[in-house]
Amino acid sequence: MVNNLEFKKKLSDIPIEIQIAHAGRKGSAFIPWIKSNKSLNKRNKSWITYAPSAIKRDKGWPIPRELTESQIKKIIINFKDAALKAKKIGFDYVCVSSGGILPITNLKFYKGFSAPFTKIIKKNTSIITRTSGLITDVHQANKLLKNKNVDLIAMARTFINDPMWIYKAAKKIKNNKIIPSQYLRCF
Ligand SMILES: Cc1cc2nc3c(=O)[nH]c(=O)nc-3n(C[C@H](O)[C@H](O)[C@H](O)COP(=O)(O)O)c2cc1C
Repeated sequence: MVNNLEFKKKLSDIPIEIQIAHAGRKGSAFIPWIKSNKSLNKRNKSWITYAPSAIKRDKGWPIPRELTESQIKKIIINFKDAALKAKKIGFDYVCVSSGGILPITNLKFYKGFSAPFTKIIKKNTSIITRTSGLITDVHQANKLLKNKNVDLIAMARTFINDPMWIYKAAKKIKNNKIIPSQYLRCF
């Protein structure tokens, strides 16, 4: 991985991020596009999952073992160690996936649903924080940045659906600066 990173850094100064994750109750699952929302069975080498509470992911899923407080503390230390190692070998950001370890299981998916959590992290630490989750509109994104709720915004599905989204958004807010001059007549 170090060689790979060094090579990429030689090609471009674009910041590079690595994700640290704990699958929690979402672990021991089939790859979603092979079997959606389905836990592995013994034949497929399933494993015991651990989560903050003994609540299953969904109907038909196994109940995860509840982590003890000291096990959770150990995971926090492991995350910290992994982040420090990532920094040491040259990553610019770490993405901490809350995917499986978040104690809240009934998270509501409204527009910008992760932003309240990001705001708490930003408020209580001095680290640059990023949010994602149903941010689809440039005005909504700008509002989160302007209110200093977050420092960075990531968009996944919106960009996959429309890779030219950023240029259309720039046009919408009359910011032509990021549109290459050659492209201006396209928007
Ligand atoms: C193709 C795809 C792959 C993703 N992979 C990950 C991942 O590896 N880790 C993670 O924490 N989130 C992953 N996500 C979730 C996104 O980071 C993001 O939280 C989620 O899609 C909500 O943001 P959105 O509404 O902009 O798509 C993935 C999303 C998509 C669409």
